[in-house]
Amino acid sequence: EKGGFEHFMLKEIFEQPRSISDCMRGRLDAQKGRLVLGGLREYLAKLTNADRILIVACGTSWHAGLVAEYFFEEFCRIPVEVEYASEFRYRNPVIREGDVVIAISQSGETADTLAAIELAKSKGAIIFGVCNVVGSSIARATHAGAYTHAGPEIGVASTKAFTAQLTVLNMIALIVAQKKGTITEQKLHELLVEMETIPAKVERALKLNDQIESIAAEFKDARNFIYLGRGYNFPVALEGALKLKEISYIHAEGYPAAEMKHGPIALIDEEMPVVFIATNDSSYEKVVSNIQEVRARKGRVIAIVTEGDKLIPKMAEFVIEVPSVHEALMPMVSVVPLQLLSYHIAVMRGCNVDQPRNLAKSVTVE
Ligand code: F6R
Repeated sequence: EKGGFEHFMLKEIFEQPRSISDCMRGRLDAQKGRLVLGGLREYLAKLTNADRILIVACGTSWHAGLVAEYFFEEFCRIPVEVEYASEFRYRNPVIREGDVVIAISQSGETADTLAAIELAKSKGAIIFGVCNVVGSSIARATHAGAYTHAGPEIGVASTKAFTAQLTVLNMIALIVAQKKGTITEQKLHELLVEMETIPAKVERALKLNDQIESIAAEFKDARNFIYLGRGYNFPVALEGALKLKEISYIHAEGYPAAEMKHGPIALIDEEMPVVFIATNDSSYEKVVSNIQEVRARKGRVIAIVTEGDKLIPKMAEFVIEVPSVHEALMPMVSVVPLQLLSYHIAVMRGCNVDQPRNLAKSVTVE
């Protein structure tokens, strides 16, 4: 059932080229100029005319929401707020007519997310669901939505569901952007072509497995980790840190790289591993200076870079090269080495990666 893999988590990490293409199948075809999500049609006008989009989710799904915030704002020019479902539901949030809620949940059973949906619904908001489990409570509670079609995710740590969520959220945003006219046909075509390259690029990133395993051996006894990224890679830093803490029990923090100097930089010494997601995008130069700041304090830098990067290998102790892709799509690729890193560290520490202590696959209690 684990398809020859030692753990479900590893199997699911390696399934991503397939799960991402399954997610796009019948929905996206760049050559035919096709981009459709059947479940969206009835309420598409609501989304297109939304004054604001509220994204509610928990955990890894919340991180997918953060990436979507950047994507929707860039291409749809609609303001987006990303909310922890547990905070949103208890603070008497302002929900106006014209707001549209997108709820993201792998299991479709997360109690706080479900309650946030019911609250927003009671105030008259339209709710879209992005769920993996067909027929789940959240899928049924929403007005419309799109499934991620990633297949069953058994490992408690969410991996393939995350990349499938990003795939769906990107497709929703591009449909809205096209309808609103906030993206040119040329740019849209370019992004659709790039989306279709993602499964192959994730496949290439998976080839880094052996290299990442040897990096894991270097750091398996670390007591802390910091993950830093900017722009689209900032939520990836949060996700990398969450993956590590939940399955290896190593304390890890994800931060926007520029925020480091407002506090976490005090933690850096010659024992602190700092993972930078430093791919070649619009914040590249800024991230390079953040790497220098860490090096100046003798932190041990592990950098995820774009293939062919000439500069960062001179500064980082370990460099992991991922294929180049449009920056808005990079999280689907750059998260993969972080999933593998946490997996190998957890295995080396003898942890139960598929069923970490204190965690459940569906959090059906608040
Ligand atoms: C992280 C993880 C959790 C879930 C969170 C939300 O690897 O598994 O943080 O992402 O409990 O779950 P869903 O997406 O099922 O609502």
